[in-house]
Order: sequence, then C-alpha cells, then structure tokens
Amino acid sequence: SVVLLLNVFLFLCFQLIMMKVFSVLTVSCPSTMYQAQDLCCPKCPAGNRVKTDCTKTANTSCVACEGGTHMDKPSGLKQCTHCTICDLSFGLKENRTCTSTLDTVCEPQDGFYCVDLAAGSCVAAHKHRQCQPGEYIKQTGTAFRDTECSDCSNGTFSDGTLKFCRPHRPCESLNLKLIRPGNATTDAQCEEQDHNKVVPIIIGCLILLLLLSAILIAYKKKSKKVCLQTCCNSSWMMGHRVCSEQKTTNFPDSLLSELLPGNWTLSEDKLLE
Ligand SMILES: *[C@@H]1O[C@H](CO)[C@@H](O)[C@H](O)[C@H]1NC(C)=O
Ligand SMILES: *[C@@H]1O[C@H](CO)[C@@H](O)[C@H](O)[C@H]1NC(C)=O
Ligand SMILES: *[C@@H]1O[C@H](CO)[C@@H](O)[C@H](O)[C@H]1NC(C)=O
Ligand SMILES: *[C@@H]1O[C@H](CO)[C@@H](O)[C@H](O)[C@H]1NC(C)=O
Repeated sequence: SVVLLLNVFLFLCFQLIMMKVFSVLTVSCPSTMYQAQDLCCPKCPAGNRVKTDCTKTANTSCVACEGGTHMDKPSGLKQCTHCTICDLSFGLKENRTCTSTLDTVCEPQDGFYCVDLAAGSCVAAHKHRQCQPGEYIKQTGTAFRDTECSDCSNGTFSDGTLKFCRPHRPCESLNLKLIRPGNATTDAQCEEQDHNKVVPIIIGCLILLLLLSAILIAYKKKSKKVCLQTCCNSSWMMGHRVCSEQKTTNFPDSLLSELLPGNWTLSEDKLLE
C-alpha cells in the first residue's frame, strides 16, 4: 500500500507539473498572437475571424465577418459575434447600426428611458411615467431619466399634463357665487349667470329711478303754486299805454324787472295758478 500511495503521490506531482507547463504555454503567446495547439499564431485584425490557424510554414488565414456579425478587437476566434438587435418591444431603437468592427448601439425610443446600460448601449428601457391628475410635471423625462411628478399645492389644480398647477378660480373676489370648490384635479366653479343678471338689474333700477324722479319733478313743478305775470311790450299812444305784445311768465317780480328788455313792463294783472 505504501507503493500505491507513492504512485498516487507521483501521479499527482506529474499532473501538477503538466498543468504548470500547460498554463505557462497558454500565457507564453504575446498579446498580438493566440495559441493554436503548440504554436503562437498572429491574431486576425478587428472585423475578421480566423479561417485556418497558422502552421509552422503558413500564416494565419483570416476572413471578413459576414453581414450581421462583428469582431471588435483583433482575435484568434473562428466565429464573429452576432450583432445586437435593438428590441422595439423593449422600448429600444438603433442609435448606430452594426459594422464589422462595432456592434449596434441601442437607445431608448421617444417617451422611454434607459434602465440598463451595457458598454454604452441600452439593453432595457421603461416608459416615462405619466403624471396623474392632481400632479404636475416637475421634470420632463429624458433618454436616461424618468419623468418627475409632484403634487399640486393647496388652492391649485392640474390634470397631470402641465408643468405647473393652475390656481383655482377665485369666485368670491370676482364677485361670483361659488358653486363647487376646486380640488387638486378640478377648478372651482362659479355661478356665471349671476354676473350676467346683475348688470341688467342695475341698469333697470337706474332707468326706473330716473323715470320716478322725472315724474316726481314734473309733479312738483305742476303742483307748485307759481305767480304768473303777464307783461306788456308797451308803447304810449295818445296818453294811453298800448300793449303790442303780451307774454306770461312765472318769474318773480324782482327778477322780472331785470330780465325784461326795453319797453317791456309788468301788466297790472297778476295771475295765480
Ligand atoms: C500574418 O497574418 C496576420 C493576420 O492576418 C497579419 O497581420 C500579418 O501581417 C501576417 N504576417 C505575414 C508575415 O504575412
Ligand atoms: C446616440 O448617439 C449619439 C451620437 O453618437 C450620442 O450623443 C447619444 O448620447 C446617443 N444616445 C444614446 C441614448 O445612447
Ligand atoms: C392643505 O390643505 C390641507 C387640508 O385642508 C391641510 O391639511 C394642509 O396643511 C394644507 N397644506 C398647506 C401647505 O397649506
Ligand atoms: C375633485 O372634484 C371632482 C369634481 O367634483 C371629483 O370628481 C373628484 O373626485 C375630486 N377629487 C378629489 C381628490 O377630491
């Protein structure tokens, strides 16, 4: 059994040495080369893949990547990588199409923002959130950030599509009747008809007042006892006064004497009406 143990030990040592040699071999090729069996072969340039490995007498044989595939770096790979397809159903679209040396770059569609970015290309996108009624758009969403919403403050409202909340209609200060107070989603409602009724009512009242006062003044004038005085435009004729023209007025005596021109004098009779 000692021999068996020794054999196992020797076998393990051999294995370790072989692994060491193999790992040394794998890292022994310079970065511009790759290992093919026991040879270091030159890598194929970006945009190409290895068709056949090099041999002791022949160089590596390379071919260009076929359409829909790419190789970003010089490599010793025998297959090019398939180009990424921007999944429309994941809210993605192409920013840059695939070339033989560069993979597709995807970006979020309009109204989406990226939630998973890998090597500068978006892998998954979510739809921007929609602000709810009672909220306003605090920050519009971008390709990399979601929309930010915020609650309307007291006395304002919004349907969620605005960048601000509108203040409620101030019914009282507009001299209108408040029908329904506003909340965060709806404006206050005022009674509009009141306003339309007030003006005609005021005008009607004014007209009525004017009419009444006119009637009152007319009545007062009529009811007032006035001393009517008859005047004569007189001239003397053969020692007698002759009235050539007569007028009746309601001026008092004192005024009359001043107002009467030239030959006008008061006639004798004074009438009371
Ligand atoms: C061998 O192939 C590589 C890759 O195609 C190329 O870069 C290199 O110039 C070639 N060497 C010779 C000596 O042809
Ligand atoms: C799309 O490409 C342009 C220019 O290459 C770049 O400025 C922009 O940030 C890219 N958009 C996204 C969402 O990656
Ligand atoms: C808004 O109104 C509510 C209810 O009337 C009240 O509890 C709250 O303190 C008010 N907030 C502000 C900022 O005025
Ligand atoms: C706001 O008012 C509207 C109309 O009166 C009503 O439908 C809605 O439920 C109210 N919202 C809240 C949050 O009270």
